[in-house]
Amino acid sequence: MITTSIESAINALTKGEVIGLPTETVYGLAANCFNEEAVQKIYQIKNRPNDNPLIVHVKNADAINDLVIEIPEVAKLLMSHYWPGPLTLLLPKSSLISDCITASSPLVALRSPNHPLALRLLNQLNFPLVAPSANPFMSVSPTNAQHVHDYFGDDISVILDGGNCQKGIESTIIGFEKNEIIIYREGTITEEDFKVLLGDLKVSKIKNKKVSHPGMYKRHYAPNIPLIISQNIAEDIKRFKNKKIGVLSLIQIENIDCYCKEVLSESGSLEEAAQHLYGHLIKLDKSGADIILTEFLPEIGIGKAINEKLIKASTTI
Ligand code: TXA
Ligand code: MG
Repeated sequence: MITTSIESAINALTKGEVIGLPTETVYGLAANCFNEEAVQKIYQIKNRPNDNPLIVHVKNADAINDLVIEIPEVAKLLMSHYWPGPLTLLLPKSSLISDCITASSPLVALRSPNHPLALRLLNQLNFPLVAPSANPFMSVSPTNAQHVHDYFGDDISVILDGGNCQKGIESTIIGFEKNEIIIYREGTITEEDFKVLLGDLKVSKIKNKKVSHPGMYKRHYAPNIPLIISQNIAEDIKRFKNKKIGVLSLIQIENIDCYCKEVLSESGSLEEAAQHLYGHLIKLDKSGADIILTEFLPEIGIGKAINEKLIKASTTI
Protein backbone atom coordinates (compact mmCIF):
# COMPACT_ATOMS: atom_id res chain seq x y z
CA MET A 1 0.00 0.00 0.00
CA ILE A 2 1.32 3.45 -0.93
CA THR A 3 0.45 5.83 1.89
CA THR A 4 1.45 9.04 3.64
CA SER A 5 0.39 7.67 7.04
CA ILE A 6 3.30 7.72 9.49
CA GLU A 7 1.15 5.65 11.88
CA SER A 8 0.95 2.73 9.42
CA ALA A 9 4.71 2.91 8.95
CA ILE A 10 5.28 2.88 12.72
CA ASN A 11 2.88 -0.08 13.14
CA ALA A 12 4.55 -2.11 10.42
CA LEU A 13 8.09 -1.39 11.65
CA THR A 14 7.18 -2.18 15.25
CA LYS A 15 5.80 -5.55 14.11
CA GLY A 16 9.15 -6.33 12.43
CA GLU A 17 7.99 -5.62 8.89
CA VAL A 18 9.91 -3.93 6.11
CA ILE A 19 8.59 -0.63 4.69
CA GLY A 20 9.34 1.60 1.71
CA LEU A 21 11.01 4.77 3.03
CA PRO A 22 11.40 8.06 1.16
CA THR A 23 14.72 9.86 1.55
CA GLU A 24 16.22 12.81 -0.30
CA THR A 25 18.56 10.50 -2.27
CA VAL A 26 16.57 7.41 -3.29
CA TYR A 27 13.83 5.34 -1.65
CA GLY A 28 14.96 2.76 0.90
CA LEU A 29 13.64 -0.57 2.20
CA ALA A 30 13.63 0.08 5.92
CA ALA A 31 13.47 -2.13 9.02
CA ASN A 32 14.12 -1.90 12.76
CA CYS A 33 17.89 -1.87 13.18
CA PHE A 34 17.64 -3.83 16.45
CA ASN A 35 15.40 -6.62 15.10
CA GLU A 36 17.65 -9.17 13.41
CA GLU A 37 14.78 -11.06 11.80
CA ALA A 38 13.48 -7.85 10.25
CA VAL A 39 16.98 -7.03 8.99
CA GLN A 40 17.22 -10.49 7.37
CA LYS A 41 13.89 -9.86 5.61
CA ILE A 42 15.48 -6.94 3.79
CA TYR A 43 18.19 -9.17 2.33
CA GLN A 44 15.55 -11.70 1.26
CA ILE A 45 13.16 -9.19 -0.32
CA LYS A 46 16.00 -7.50 -2.23
CA ASN A 47 17.64 -10.81 -3.10
CA ARG A 48 20.84 -9.19 -1.85
CA PRO A 49 23.91 -11.21 -0.81
CA ASN A 50 24.55 -11.15 2.94
CA ASP A 51 28.07 -9.85 2.44
CA ASN A 52 26.77 -6.47 1.26
CA PRO A 53 26.22 -4.40 4.43
CA LEU A 54 23.40 -1.95 5.18
CA ILE A 55 23.31 1.74 6.12
CA VAL A 56 21.81 2.66 9.51
CA HIS A 57 19.55 5.73 9.34
CA VAL A 58 19.29 7.95 12.42
CA LYS A 59 17.29 11.05 13.36
CA ASN A 60 20.35 13.17 14.19
CA ALA A 61 24.02 13.13 15.16
CA ASP A 62 23.30 12.53 18.88
CA ALA A 63 21.53 9.31 17.97
CA ILE A 64 24.79 7.67 16.88
CA ASN A 65 26.47 7.94 20.29
CA ASP A 66 25.39 4.46 21.42
CA LEU A 67 25.91 2.89 18.01
CA VAL A 68 29.63 3.62 17.65
CA ILE A 69 32.67 3.43 19.93
CA GLU A 70 34.56 6.39 18.57
CA ILE A 71 33.78 9.56 16.63
CA PRO A 72 36.74 11.44 15.11
CA GLU A 73 36.57 15.25 15.42
CA VAL A 74 36.39 15.61 11.66
CA ALA A 75 33.34 13.29 11.59
CA LYS A 76 31.65 15.57 14.15
CA LEU A 77 32.36 18.57 11.97
CA LEU A 78 30.99 16.83 8.88
CA MET A 79 27.84 15.74 10.70
CA SER A 80 27.19 19.24 11.98
CA HIS A 81 27.68 20.60 8.47
CA TYR A 82 25.90 18.01 6.33
CA TRP A 83 23.35 16.20 8.52
CA PRO A 84 20.56 15.68 7.89
CA GLY A 85 21.80 15.09 4.35
CA PRO A 86 23.23 12.75 1.73
CA LEU A 87 26.45 11.86 3.57
CA THR A 88 27.12 8.39 5.00
CA LEU A 89 29.95 7.92 7.51
CA LEU A 90 31.76 4.65 8.24
CA LEU A 91 32.61 4.49 11.96
CA PRO A 92 33.67 1.72 14.38
CA LYS A 93 30.48 0.01 15.55
CA SER A 94 29.39 -0.69 19.13
CA SER A 95 27.95 -4.04 20.20
CA LEU A 96 24.41 -2.69 19.64
CA ILE A 97 24.97 -3.07 15.89
CA SER A 98 24.70 -6.69 14.85
CA ASP A 99 27.11 -8.34 12.44
CA CYS A 100 24.32 -9.02 9.96
CA ILE A 101 24.01 -5.26 9.39
CA THR A 102 27.71 -4.70 8.73
CA ALA A 103 28.45 -8.08 7.09
CA SER A 104 30.83 -8.69 10.02
CA SER A 105 32.84 -5.54 9.40
CA PRO A 106 33.91 -3.62 12.53
CA LEU A 107 32.61 -0.46 10.80
CA VAL A 108 29.00 0.63 10.56
CA ALA A 109 27.64 2.99 7.87
CA LEU A 110 25.49 5.82 9.30
CA ARG A 111 23.46 8.65 7.87
CA SER A 112 20.63 11.00 8.77
CA PRO A 113 18.30 11.42 5.78
CA ASN A 114 17.12 14.91 4.90
CA HIS A 115 13.51 14.16 4.13
CA PRO A 116 10.66 15.56 6.24
CA LEU A 117 8.64 12.30 6.35
CA ALA A 118 11.69 10.14 7.09
CA LEU A 119 12.75 12.51 9.87
CA ARG A 120 9.25 12.64 11.35
CA LEU A 121 9.18 8.86 11.35
CA LEU A 122 12.65 8.50 12.90
CA ASN A 123 11.70 11.01 15.60
CA GLN A 124 8.71 8.91 16.61
CA LEU A 125 10.56 5.59 16.71
CA ASN A 126 12.74 4.36 19.53
CA PHE A 127 15.07 2.54 17.15
CA PRO A 128 17.11 3.56 14.08
CA LEU A 129 16.30 2.12 10.65
CA VAL A 130 18.52 0.03 8.43
CA ALA A 131 17.75 0.82 4.81
CA PRO A 132 19.37 -0.14 1.54
CA SER A 133 17.99 1.32 -1.68
CA ALA A 134 14.56 -0.15 -2.48
CA ASN A 135 15.45 -2.00 -5.67
CA PRO A 136 16.07 -5.67 -6.33
CA PHE A 137 19.81 -6.39 -6.17
CA MET A 138 21.64 -4.98 -9.23
CA SER A 139 18.73 -2.98 -10.65
CA VAL A 140 18.09 0.76 -10.88
CA SER A 141 17.32 2.55 -7.59
CA PRO A 142 13.80 3.96 -7.13
CA THR A 143 13.14 7.68 -6.81
CA ASN A 144 9.41 7.64 -6.15
CA ALA A 145 6.91 5.47 -4.28
CA GLN A 146 5.44 3.99 -7.48
CA HIS A 147 8.89 2.69 -8.52
CA VAL A 148 9.08 0.81 -5.21
CA HIS A 149 5.59 -0.61 -5.70
CA ASP A 150 6.44 -1.65 -9.26
CA TYR A 151 9.48 -3.57 -7.98
CA PHE A 152 7.99 -5.31 -4.95
CA GLY A 153 4.19 -5.09 -5.22
CA ASP A 154 2.52 -6.32 -2.08
CA ASP A 155 5.67 -7.93 -0.65
CA ILE A 156 5.91 -4.65 1.23
CA SER A 157 2.78 -3.76 3.15
CA VAL A 158 3.57 -0.06 3.60
CA ILE A 159 5.34 2.26 1.17
CA LEU A 160 5.56 5.73 2.66
CA ASP A 161 4.98 8.25 -0.11
CA GLY A 162 7.31 11.23 0.13
CA GLY A 163 7.09 12.33 -3.51
CA ASN A 164 10.04 12.46 -5.89
CA CYS A 165 13.52 12.30 -4.34
CA GLN A 166 15.22 15.70 -4.40
CA LYS A 167 18.78 14.47 -4.94
CA GLY A 168 18.11 11.39 -7.05
CA ILE A 169 21.37 9.47 -6.52
CA GLU A 170 22.65 7.64 -3.46
CA SER A 171 24.52 9.30 -0.60
CA THR A 172 28.26 9.92 -0.66
CA ILE A 173 29.99 7.34 1.55
CA ILE A 174 33.22 8.20 3.37
CA GLY A 175 35.54 6.55 5.86
CA PHE A 176 38.30 7.94 8.06
CA GLU A 177 41.94 6.98 8.17
CA LYS A 178 44.48 8.71 10.39
CA ASN A 179 44.70 12.05 8.62
CA GLU A 180 42.68 11.28 5.62
CA ILE A 181 39.14 11.00 4.34
CA ILE A 182 38.46 8.15 1.96
CA ILE A 183 35.55 8.42 -0.47
CA TYR A 184 34.03 4.96 -0.90
CA ARG A 185 31.09 6.00 -3.06
CA GLU A 186 30.61 9.30 -4.85
CA GLY A 187 27.35 11.21 -4.54
CA THR A 188 26.01 14.74 -4.58
CA ILE A 189 28.43 15.84 -1.86
CA THR A 190 31.70 15.86 -3.77
CA GLU A 191 35.44 15.69 -3.21
CA GLU A 192 35.55 19.44 -3.96
CA ASP A 193 32.97 20.12 -1.21
CA PHE A 194 35.13 18.28 1.37
CA LYS A 195 38.23 20.16 0.28
CA VAL A 196 36.46 23.50 0.71
CA LEU A 197 35.21 22.57 4.18
CA LEU A 198 38.27 20.73 5.45
CA GLY A 199 41.11 22.74 3.93
CA ASP A 200 44.36 20.84 4.34
CA LEU A 201 42.96 17.45 5.22
CA LYS A 202 43.74 14.85 2.57
CA VAL A 203 40.74 13.51 0.68
CA SER A 204 41.15 10.54 -1.65
CA LYS A 205 39.09 7.96 -3.43
CA ILE A 206 39.12 4.31 -2.45
CA LYS A 207 41.69 2.47 -4.53
CA ASN A 208 41.19 -1.12 -3.56
CA LYS A 209 38.29 -2.15 -5.75
CA LYS A 210 37.30 -5.22 -3.77
CA VAL A 211 33.77 -6.27 -4.62
CA SER A 212 32.61 -5.86 -1.04
CA HIS A 213 33.20 -2.13 -1.12
CA PRO A 214 30.18 0.11 -1.51
CA GLY A 215 28.68 0.13 -4.96
CA MET A 216 31.77 -1.64 -6.26
CA TYR A 217 29.99 -4.34 -8.19
CA LYS A 218 30.98 -3.84 -11.79
CA ARG A 219 27.47 -3.83 -13.20
CA HIS A 220 24.98 -2.26 -10.87
CA TYR A 221 22.03 0.12 -11.04
CA ALA A 222 21.38 -1.46 -14.42
CA PRO A 223 18.28 -1.44 -16.59
CA ASN A 224 17.16 -4.71 -18.25
CA ILE A 225 17.91 -3.56 -21.78
CA PRO A 226 21.52 -2.70 -22.77
CA LEU A 227 22.67 0.83 -22.01
CA ILE A 228 25.46 2.04 -24.25
CA ILE A 229 27.58 5.09 -23.53
CA SER A 230 28.14 6.81 -26.84
CA GLN A 231 30.72 9.38 -27.89
CA ASN A 232 28.32 10.67 -30.53
CA ILE A 233 24.65 9.81 -30.16
CA ALA A 234 23.59 11.11 -33.58
CA GLU A 235 26.24 8.92 -35.30
CA ASP A 236 25.50 5.83 -33.25
CA ILE A 237 21.79 6.06 -34.02
CA LYS A 238 22.73 5.37 -37.63
CA ARG A 239 24.92 2.45 -36.55
CA PHE A 240 22.04 0.78 -34.71
CA LYS A 241 19.43 1.60 -37.35
CA ASN A 242 17.73 -1.79 -37.17
CA LYS A 243 17.05 -1.32 -33.44
CA LYS A 244 14.46 0.65 -31.51
CA ILE A 245 16.66 3.20 -29.75
CA GLY A 246 15.88 5.08 -26.56
CA VAL A 247 18.09 8.13 -26.05
CA LEU A 248 19.07 9.54 -22.66
CA SER A 249 20.87 12.86 -23.05
CA LEU A 250 21.80 15.72 -20.77
CA ILE A 251 20.13 18.38 -22.90
CA GLN A 252 17.81 18.13 -25.89
CA ILE A 253 19.42 16.76 -29.07
CA GLU A 254 17.49 18.07 -32.05
CA ASN A 255 16.79 16.24 -35.30
CA ILE A 256 17.55 12.70 -34.28
CA ASP A 257 15.52 9.77 -35.41
CA CYS A 258 14.97 7.53 -32.40
CA TYR A 259 12.18 5.46 -30.86
CA CYS A 260 11.96 7.63 -27.73
CA LYS A 261 14.11 10.07 -25.78
CA GLU A 262 14.48 11.48 -22.30
CA VAL A 263 16.32 14.67 -21.40
CA LEU A 264 18.02 14.88 -18.00
CA SER A 265 17.92 18.66 -17.73
CA GLU A 266 16.66 21.15 -20.33
CA SER A 267 19.03 23.76 -18.87
CA GLY A 268 22.01 21.40 -18.51
CA SER A 269 21.96 21.48 -14.70
CA LEU A 270 23.88 18.53 -13.24
CA GLU A 271 21.81 18.65 -10.02
CA GLU A 272 18.65 18.30 -12.05
CA ALA A 273 20.27 15.56 -14.13
CA ALA A 274 20.99 13.55 -10.96
CA GLN A 275 17.41 14.06 -9.81
CA HIS A 276 16.03 12.60 -13.06
CA LEU A 277 18.67 9.96 -13.80
CA TYR A 278 17.08 6.82 -12.34
CA GLY A 279 13.49 7.76 -13.16
CA HIS A 280 14.42 8.31 -16.81
CA LEU A 281 16.40 5.07 -16.96
CA ILE A 282 13.41 3.18 -15.56
CA LYS A 283 11.09 4.87 -18.08
CA LEU A 284 13.34 4.04 -21.03
CA ASP A 285 13.72 0.48 -19.80
CA LYS A 286 9.95 0.04 -19.92
CA SER A 287 9.42 1.98 -23.15
CA GLY A 288 9.68 -0.94 -25.55
CA ALA A 289 13.07 0.26 -26.86
CA ASP A 290 15.74 -2.39 -27.59
CA ILE A 291 18.70 -0.37 -26.33
CA ILE A 292 19.44 2.92 -24.58
CA LEU A 293 22.08 5.25 -25.98
CA THR A 294 23.48 7.81 -23.59
CA GLU A 295 26.52 10.07 -23.17
CA PHE A 296 28.93 11.04 -20.40
CA LEU A 297 28.14 14.25 -18.53
CA PRO A 298 30.83 16.88 -17.85
CA GLU A 299 33.33 15.49 -15.28
CA ILE A 300 32.77 18.33 -12.83
CA GLY A 301 31.08 18.35 -9.42
CA ILE A 302 28.35 15.75 -9.28
CA GLY A 303 28.84 14.99 -12.98
CA LYS A 304 31.54 12.54 -11.81
CA ALA A 305 29.12 10.62 -9.60
CA ILE A 306 26.54 10.50 -12.39
CA ASN A 307 29.13 9.22 -14.88
CA GLU A 308 30.12 6.53 -12.42
CA LYS A 309 26.47 5.41 -12.24
CA LEU A 310 26.26 5.39 -16.05
CA ILE A 311 29.36 3.20 -16.27
CA LYS A 312 27.86 0.78 -13.74
CA ALA A 313 24.59 0.65 -15.67
CA SER A 314 26.25 0.20 -19.03
CA THR A 315 26.98 -2.71 -21.31
CA THR A 316 30.26 -2.87 -23.18
CA ILE A 317 29.92 -3.55 -26.86
O1 TXA B 1 21.43 7.30 -0.25
C1 TXA B 1 21.61 6.20 0.26
O2 TXA B 1 22.69 5.89 0.81
C2 TXA B 1 20.46 5.18 0.15
C3 TXA B 1 19.27 5.69 0.99
C4 TXA B 1 18.14 4.70 1.06
O3 TXA B 1 19.73 6.06 2.25
N1 TXA B 1 20.89 3.90 0.59
C5 TXA B 1 21.72 3.12 -0.12
O4 TXA B 1 21.93 1.88 0.42
O5 TXA B 1 22.23 3.47 -1.16
P1 TXA B 1 22.54 0.67 -0.40
O6 TXA B 1 22.46 -0.48 0.53
O7 TXA B 1 21.86 0.53 -1.69
O8 TXA B 1 24.02 1.06 -0.60
C6 TXA B 1 24.84 1.17 0.54
C7 TXA B 1 26.26 0.89 0.22
C8 TXA B 1 26.48 -0.55 -0.23
O9 TXA B 1 27.23 -0.54 -1.43
C9 TXA B 1 27.25 -1.18 0.91
O10 TXA B 1 28.23 -2.06 0.45
C10 TXA B 1 27.88 0.02 1.60
O11 TXA B 1 26.97 1.07 1.43
N2 TXA B 1 28.06 -0.19 3.04
C11 TXA B 1 27.10 -0.27 3.98
N3 TXA B 1 27.64 -0.54 5.18
C12 TXA B 1 28.98 -0.63 5.00
C13 TXA B 1 30.08 -0.93 5.85
N4 TXA B 1 29.90 -1.18 7.14
N5 TXA B 1 31.31 -0.93 5.31
C14 TXA B 1 31.49 -0.68 3.99
N6 TXA B 1 30.49 -0.42 3.13
C15 TXA B 1 29.24 -0.40 3.62
MG1 MG C 1 21.70 0.27 -3.68
